[in-house]
Amino acid sequence: MTCPVILVANWKMKLGVGESEKLAKDVVRGLKSSRDHGRAVILCPSFPALDRVADVLRNTNIAIGAQDVFWQTSGAYTGEVSARELKELGCRFVIIGHSERRALGEADADVHKKTRAALTAGLTPILCVGEPIAVRRAGRQASYVRQQLAAALKGLRRSRVIIAYEPIWAIGSGKADNPESIARMARVIHATVGAMPVLYGGSVSASNARDFLHTPGIQGALVGGASLHTAEFITIATS
Ligand code: PGA
Repeated sequence: MTCPVILVANWKMKLGVGESEKLAKDVVRGLKSSRDHGRAVILCPSFPALDRVADVLRNTNIAIGAQDVFWQTSGAYTGEVSARELKELGCRFVIIGHSERRALGEADADVHKKTRAALTAGLTPILCVGEPIAVRRAGRQASYVRQQLAAALKGLRRSRVIIAYEPIWAIGSGKADNPESIARMARVIHATVGAMPVLYGGSVSASNARDFLHTPGIQGALVGGASLHTAEFITIATS
């Protein structure tokens, strides 16, 4: 059985709850009318919008995911959200270790605990890795990403993990990485963690999606900015 191409929409904190609900409805409508797309599409709204977006996606073949999760199952952790709550809301996926969270102080050890909590609860982690620009300029991206993977997945069962390779300098910059180096990083990732799906993320748009979705070793894309525009996201999802 071949795994379908995976398209993850990361809406970040860019939309209100009502706007998220509307975008979800538009995506459902758009993908329905574009014949059998044969893609696994996962929408990741912010926490407050999960419930309403989950309602919109019920009885569709579009899945819902969260953008983060806490590692404890319950307790006095003001402001945090557990994997169990995400499951209750219908999430099957959760983005973990996004560089924007790492920039706010999330360490490799936190990413590891979150990945473990997600797996334990039966969620599929979409584990983000990727190097900053200085590391890339020094040509050390392979060892940087290998270390991130080792730290996040140490001792965990890996059969249900999706990896998103997102060079930090490519995120939101309009400067996507090139397919050759992405293919090289996909080989590095597979050699490190085995045969799990590897997505590319970082300035994916309607005009370049086709290149990435046909890059050897790449199974799909994690899309930020371009996922906020229905027509563009539908174009990407059907590329
Ligand atoms: P971008 O974001 O597509 O806007 O570059 C990707 C991401 O942060 O996941």
